[in-house]
Amino acid sequence: MSEPTAPGPVRFGPGAHLLVTGGAGFIGSAFVREVLGRRDGTRITVLDKLTYAGNRANLAPVETDREQARRLRFVCGDIADATAVEPLAGDADAIVNFAAESHVDRSILAPDAFLVTNVIGVHVLLEACRAETARAAAGDRPAPPRFVQVSTDEVYGAVEAGFSREGDPLAPRSPYAAAKAAGELLARSYHVTYGLDVVITRGSNTYGPYQHPEKLIPLFVTNALEDRSLPLYGDGMQRRDWLYVSDHAGAVEHVLRHGVAGEVYNVRGGTELPNREVVARLLDLLGKPWTLVRRVEDRPGHDRRYAMDGRRLAELGWRNRVGFEEGLAATVAWFRQNDAWWRAVRSGDWDEYYERQYGARLATSVAAEPPGERG
Ligand code: NAD
Ligand code: DAU
Repeated sequence: MSEPTAPGPVRFGPGAHLLVTGGAGFIGSAFVREVLGRRDGTRITVLDKLTYAGNRANLAPVETDREQARRLRFVCGDIADATAVEPLAGDADAIVNFAAESHVDRSILAPDAFLVTNVIGVHVLLEACRAETARAAAGDRPAPPRFVQVSTDEVYGAVEAGFSREGDPLAPRSPYAAAKAAGELLARSYHVTYGLDVVITRGSNTYGPYQHPEKLIPLFVTNALEDRSLPLYGDGMQRRDWLYVSDHAGAVEHVLRHGVAGEVYNVRGGTELPNREVVARLLDLLGKPWTLVRRVEDRPGHDRRYAMDGRRLAELGWRNRVGFEEGLAATVAWFRQNDAWWRAVRSGDWDEYYERQYGARLATSVAAEPPGERG
């Protein structure tokens, strides 16, 4: 990437103001709860469209705390809508963009929304940052805003062996991953072309409390709690690197504070496992039998493995705090204790989505080989 422009550290504490887009989603809300929960005076505006994945209840811990609630403003709006974004960018010290359509399977069923939010939405945010950067250059605000684009390891595509490094070519293979790659390349182009203070993170598979039950771990935990089938795609030997949500949110904050403008940072979890091993472990924690697991038709274009090298972020001083065993146990316990939260999320359009995604698959499913008989 080009020579960094002088970003200056992002201010936190009294008077500092962050615009957090997608802050009612899984990882964005963890970021908001963490920053406001520190009670250091930082203010946050959340801009969130409240799609099926956005949930105001994810912000309840801060909205029901008077001191934290005073420092939070919630705006329901679309990052692809310049009239919503521009006024909010005006007094933001930084914009942290978590907003996205985030589920690979939904991108296979209907890609359009992925392009609008993950590409055009990023473009609208960058244009607002460009205008604010120009205002700073004219002396109309003290400093330009920093822009953090939260991206994903999926932009590298499947990695058969070894570990992706930040300079590797991007080879996304699903509409979701391709749109995320486009979004971050656009962000990088605004750094190079217009000198915007941009940093990019690429996180691995994230899990933890408040995750929408469309994703592997919360889907299987909530289905197992109801003794329903667990639809494992193909042979279940696809490998993912698992990152606990508070570590992902913490790493994004670390890059916001300390990242070098124009740089990309991999955020790895450090625990690479085949899906069937993840499923075996969560069934053990729940005391449920493997017979719930059904082998179903695979995801088209299913990436076999993601794995990243995390040295650049480690050199910036970041260390994860939560190991997979501890994180998975905490996640299973949270879903057990928060029945009302996930039942509310699995209402509305949920049954229709579930039928579309899994109906035919489950009808033609077979028993999955037990873990001992395979890798
Ligand atoms: P999520 O689906 O739980 O939350 C996305 C949030 O964005 C929701 O609150 C939704 O309402 C909001 N949103 C969607 N479209 C919007 C729009 N047009 N305008 C405003 N708000 C909108 O996603 P997540 O799992 O929390 O992921 C957050 C970010 O991290 C995404 O950018 C995703 O690509 C990235 N990421 C996720 C993972 C993971 O494993 N979950 C891993 C790496 C990177
Ligand atoms: O790697 C980072 C990415 O991780 C993020 O960018 C995405 O936003 C996030 O959704 C996640 O993508 P995955 O496709 O890896 O996550 P998902 O939970 O959908 O699937 C994890 C693995 O489990 C994957 O190999 C597919 C498999 N799977 C998933 C579901 C939902 C199943 O076998 N059955 C299922 O029903």
